[in-house]
Amino acid sequence: MNTHRSQEKSTVELSTLIAGFWRLASWKQSPQETLRFIERCVELGITTMDHAMVYRSEAPFGNALALKPELRDKIEIVTKFGIRPSGFGNLGARKVNHYDSSSAALVESVENSLQDLGTDHLDALLIHRPDYLMDCDEIANAFSTLKSEGKVKAFGVSNFTIHQFDALQHAVSFPLITNQVEFSPYEKENLDSGVFEQCARYAIRPMLWSCLGGGSILNPTDDKGQRILAALKEVAANIGAETIEQVVYAWILALPCNPHPLLGTSRIERVEQAAAALHLSMNREQWYQIWEASHGTPVP
Ligand SMILES: NC(=O)c1ccc[n+]([C@@H]2O[C@H](COP(=O)([O-])OP(=O)(O)OC[C@H]3O[C@@H](n4cnc5c(N)ncnc54)[C@H](OP(=O)(O)O)[C@@H]3O)[C@@H](O)[C@H]2O)c1
Repeated sequence: MNTHRSQEKSTVELSTLIAGFWRLASWKQSPQETLRFIERCVELGITTMDHAMVYRSEAPFGNALALKPELRDKIEIVTKFGIRPSGFGNLGARKVNHYDSSSAALVESVENSLQDLGTDHLDALLIHRPDYLMDCDEIANAFSTLKSEGKVKAFGVSNFTIHQFDALQHAVSFPLITNQVEFSPYEKENLDSGVFEQCARYAIRPMLWSCLGGGSILNPTDDKGQRILAALKEVAANIGAETIEQVVYAWILALPCNPHPLLGTSRIERVEQAAAALHLSMNREQWYQIWEASHGTPVP
């Protein structure tokens, strides 16, 4: 199966694979090393870069970008706001970790992201997690202002239920571009949450995080993980995949909602292998073999 659609109802063009920088601070890279990583991603067609205020990835990424400012026009920067953990100074909580999607918090977070990234605009801004106290009209107004100021090109959400997405989309006068949610052969609940069908209905593409379960797909610690890894190995041999990760990405890219898998690796050879997975495909029996291994029983 290969279900890539070329049409995208979006104000920004994003690459199918997205480089995720959640773990950047732990990579211990020099700005030159981060720059080389970004440049190689771009060479491979991975031009979209995912951040969040809470990753503390924006400043080191901005330092790398400052070494080659012309790179800014070749990439799309996605970042997120709304989580207020303690230990984040002005942008954090005094005592209790919480979510804040008020327009003041939104604007403050965007200004901070722009400064840390060393850029005058974000290509997309996502609400990191649903805030139970969110006022959709207030968010819609803040989004419109940031868009008209040219500071943010497009907006989306992350970890939203379909109802939360609908409520916000109802208030916002332009299309939200994505819902970024967790998905892997191990954590496959979103096959049934309605998120993928909702994205298809709005003609937008979900972004999928922790596709490798943070690496645990390769090093399983329970029976379910062992079953999945065995199935991935068998399918790898059948579809000519060089690595297990490639089978995971091929399995995910077979979804009809045309997702954007997020990569999380620090290693450029793993990025290269992931990029090669765009050319792999599997048949329905192979796809369901991995589903069955995760589910634990055959389809009824
Ligand atoms: N919206 C949200 O709430 C949310 C939540 C989580 C993540 N995200 C986004 O999604 C991105 C990806 O998430 P993720 O980092 O969890 O992705 P992931 O791809 O599931 O995990 C990446 C981790 O797996 C390791 N790994 C990769 N291949 C491996 C292998 N063959 N053997 C052992 N370990 C391996 C990597 O280590 P190496 O560096 O050594 O390759 C890295 O530590 C993040 O960067 C972030 O942008 C969003």
